Amino acid sequence: MTQHTIAVLPGDGIGREVMPEALKVLDRVGQIFDIGFRFSHLDWSCETWLATGSMMPPDGMDRLSQHDAILLGAVGYPTVPDHISLWGMLIPIRREFDQYVNLRPVRLLPGIPCPLAGRAPGDIDFWIVRENTEGEYSQIGGRFAEGSEAEGVAQTAIFTRRGTDRIMRYAFDLATRLGRPHVSSATKSNGLFHSMPYWDERFEKMAAEYPDIRTDSHHIDILAARFVMHPDRFDVVVGSNLFGDILSDLGPGVTGTIAVAPSANINPEKRFPSMFEPVHGSAPDIAGRAIANPIGQVWAASMMLDHLGEGEAAALVLRAIEHMTADPSALVRTADIGGHASTSACGDAIVAALDRIA
Ligand code: NAD
Ligand code: IPM
Ligand code: MN
Repeated sequence: MTQHTIAVLPGDGIGREVMPEALKVLDRVGQIFDIGFRFSHLDWSCETWLATGSMMPPDGMDRLSQHDAILLGAVGYPTVPDHISLWGMLIPIRREFDQYVNLRPVRLLPGIPCPLAGRAPGDIDFWIVRENTEGEYSQIGGRFAEGSEAEGVAQTAIFTRRGTDRIMRYAFDLATRLGRPHVSSATKSNGLFHSMPYWDERFEKMAAEYPDIRTDSHHIDILAARFVMHPDRFDVVVGSNLFGDILSDLGPGVTGTIAVAPSANINPEKRFPSMFEPVHGSAPDIAGRAIANPIGQVWAASMMLDHLGEGEAAALVLRAIEHMTADPSALVRTADIGGHASTSACGDAIVAALDRIA
């Protein structure tokens, strides 16, 4: 039996409600494929911050580093400022473990009502490759001339050659691996004077190394429109930290709900653990009501299995999700996809689908 040690961080809000469903699915798929999981349950959250002034214990990163992967729910609570909670846990994990790839599939699943007319599963199916450790997400800058008429704030974006090239190389290699030789770049070189012209320059250089891959480049404004008008035209989309963030809510929005979308924060060299989480946040507006859709969390667990080398198990979980979403019964579908199931009823339906198709 292969053994994997997983750090489980449910976090805040609905993170705590969707995580048990992913663990249920992992337990079952582990039995089917004879995979052992050793879970470390780490209750680090905004509550920890309220009690101790810190999101994680001082040895938090050391403890996480002893795991093969991290499964995260969501971070964020209304009474704790977001820049404190997110820069206190999620963002440091991404950076210190050099998880420079944030891979986010966008796929219309069977049975999920699509807000676009006339689209069927297969029509929307592409990958967002988001830069995850630099770019617009930066602590460089600050306030100036405080208290005077000239008061303001500067926020510096950083695009290093190493950081830019490695995310683009990942995107081109992914397109090759998937047999979908087409990479689209998200830019804004008409408005951002320094960063995006450099991004374009590196994209062109990288494209020259992959002559068999078709490329196109879109300013982020029209790219947002094209995600809605022509989502079928995309295969792999590479974007900076902020553009990738926005596109990876927009894409799933176009597929009917952001709640199904997963996110893999990957250190491709496997020098550090990678982290898997849903794209969505802690959803304080619905937390505590047991109505959150757990699919994004379960799909994130599937991406984790794939990263751990358990490709067959990962594929089976994804197929079970698709079986579940194809079921028209309102008893297995949460409210965001047109049903009235509880979070755990939806999780149970995924486990039942696993058993049916295993
Ligand atoms: P959100 O993703 O939490 O919620 C946006 C909307 O989608 C809400 O109406 C919510 O009810 C709905 N939604 C989200 N997930 C759902 C699910 N699984 N099932 C059904 N509906 C779902 O985004 P937000 O409201 O902008 O942020 C709330 C908090 O979460 C903030 O503190 C934010 O910083 C944080 N956040 C954390 C992460 C993360 O930990 N990775 C990601 C995004 C936002
Ligand atoms: C995400 C989230 C985070 C991000 C926030 C909560 C810092 O929106 O994972 O997409 O912007 O990376
Ligand atoms: Mn986001």
